[in-house]
Amino acid sequence: MCYEYSSEAPLSECTYPLVNIFLLCCLEYAFEHQNRKLFHWSDCSSSQVVAQPDDLLRPKKLEKLLRRQGFAGNTYRILYGDLKDEAAMREQPKKLEKVLREQGFAGNSYRILYGDLKFRAAMREQALSKPMNFSNDIAPRVIPSIHHTIQNYGKNSFMWLGPIPRVHIMDPEQLKIVFSLINDFQKPTINPFARLLADGILNHEGPKWVKHRKIINPAFHLEKLKDMVPAFYHSCNEMVSKWENMVFVEGSCELDVMPYLQNMTADVISRTAFGSSYEKGKKIFKLQTELVELVIQSTLGVYIPGWRFLPTKSNNKMKEISNEITTLILDIMSEREKSMKAGEAIQTDLLIILMKSNLNEIKQHGSNKDIGMSIEDVIAECKLFYIAGQETTATLLVWTMVLLSSYLEWQEQARAEIFEIFGNKKPDYDGLSRLKVVTMIFNEVLRLYPPVSMFGRFVKKETRLGKLTLPAGVMLALPTILIQRDPELWGEDANEFKPERFSKGVSKATKNPSAFVPFGLGPRICIGLNFAMIEAKLALSMILQRFSFELSSSYTHAPTVTITTQPQHGAHIILHKL
Ligand code: HEM
Repeated sequence: MCYEYSSEAPLSECTYPLVNIFLLCCLEYAFEHQNRKLFHWSDCSSSQVVAQPDDLLRPKKLEKLLRRQGFAGNTYRILYGDLKDEAAMREQPKKLEKVLREQGFAGNSYRILYGDLKFRAAMREQALSKPMNFSNDIAPRVIPSIHHTIQNYGKNSFMWLGPIPRVHIMDPEQLKIVFSLINDFQKPTINPFARLLADGILNHEGPKWVKHRKIINPAFHLEKLKDMVPAFYHSCNEMVSKWENMVFVEGSCELDVMPYLQNMTADVISRTAFGSSYEKGKKIFKLQTELVELVIQSTLGVYIPGWRFLPTKSNNKMKEISNEITTLILDIMSEREKSMKAGEAIQTDLLIILMKSNLNEIKQHGSNKDIGMSIEDVIAECKLFYIAGQETTATLLVWTMVLLSSYLEWQEQARAEIFEIFGNKKPDYDGLSRLKVVTMIFNEVLRLYPPVSMFGRFVKKETRLGKLTLPAGVMLALPTILIQRDPELWGEDANEFKPERFSKGVSKATKNPSAFVPFGLGPRICIGLNFAMIEAKLALSMILQRFSFELSSSYTHAPTVTITTQPQHGAHIILHKL
């Protein structure tokens, strides 16, 4: 998930002449780090924007023209422009490499401009080219280049993302520090296209993040989530009813459960986020799905700085969809505002809780509107609920069904527990919180198949991390999928599916509880953790109350990362009516 967007996504070969690539890298850096319309001085007589102006205006005049159109950049420095900065940037990777090697890190030597990008793309292509035998040792397929680098160079290793070194953090104690020092270790700036999808709290930093987290938190309090259980039930019921119809005649049927589970978790967000405006919510999700496709297409190649401003067919379509989503959310918001003003009883949903919490925050600060979230902020957060909450929870359920199809004794144990607590009745909140075996199973699935396979962070200024001193400009990769199956932390059976390791809780399952981080850790831990777990428990309970299931012979084991860790060729399962 846009947690670290497409962590190992392929990068196509760059078709630009080499000399331009470096300028593009510099430009990209500038765009990404300032997130504004920028320009860049390439020589003394012209500046490079996205499209080079072909007139011969003098630099100062040209600068004025650009600034008037909203572009920003360094003030022109006579003759050199930004060329000295470029030289410094060329030296930078070598300096960083030296500092890292002096502290015992190992990795490939820096290769100009590309670093390890070609190697990364080749490893991914190779991994995706064929499925694997059924085994839980999935890291070589899911994060092939990181896995390979750590195998070759050890846990203290790094890779080159172009000119930027990315250090692997494998020690849970260091991981805990990275997760807790949220101002020193910030999230990497996401591709501007991806920002169209997930420009909410997930990517905010500093005071803006603090403000948003405070305002959004009440929407995810347990007592609010309890009220949402009927909405969860409704969506799950629709899915299992469809499955019941499918097995009705023959008593069993084969299907790919992935699209059903994805649809169900999307439906849950539509109901819980937009309540009575559920139909509009469904439309929003449909548009978001279209947008995801276009964004993924746009991020497959090398991102050309400023490309998103050009009126290409795909850019126009993305803007059109994004505007349509915004209009729909604005409609829903204004309906709610009217109802709130008229004092009408309003159903509790995430949007209304968010709007009320925002109003409270503004009132507490003397009606200063700068304190609360803007309308654009609220819209971005609503969009984010789909991106952050839908795919992740669907992924957890997909892998749970795949694993319970293979480890039938655990499927039986889970069903026995569910019947003991609920019988054939509707699962309720209290019962869900008493499910022990089911919780152990989910923990084990999240350990071996974490929807978020790794986290990315960026070192803003030189920062100490235990005994290490990390220089500014270094990226960090926290490969959860490797840490959560490290034999030194989990024992020699780390790659085996053994939910019983969680029978006495997380602290007894591993040598270090910070080695289990499927929802992150520290202040930025997943805000939707309880939401996701209630939803997943309810869905699994309803499935197991009605069906038994096994893997189909057409299932091919091919875990990979798109946004989350997913089965590349779907999850083909045979359902039997109980
Ligand atoms: C199994 C399901 C889920 C998993 C595995 C998961 C995982 C995560 C992880 C690992 C993070 C931290 C990312 C980081 O620190 O870089 C995160 C953050 C977040 N998640 Fe989830 N998530 C799940 C479900 C949900 C749901 C259902 C929602 C909302 C409906 C949600 C909303 C968020 C938000 C808003 C953040 C950002 C929190 C912040 O930065 O303060 N997640 N999630």
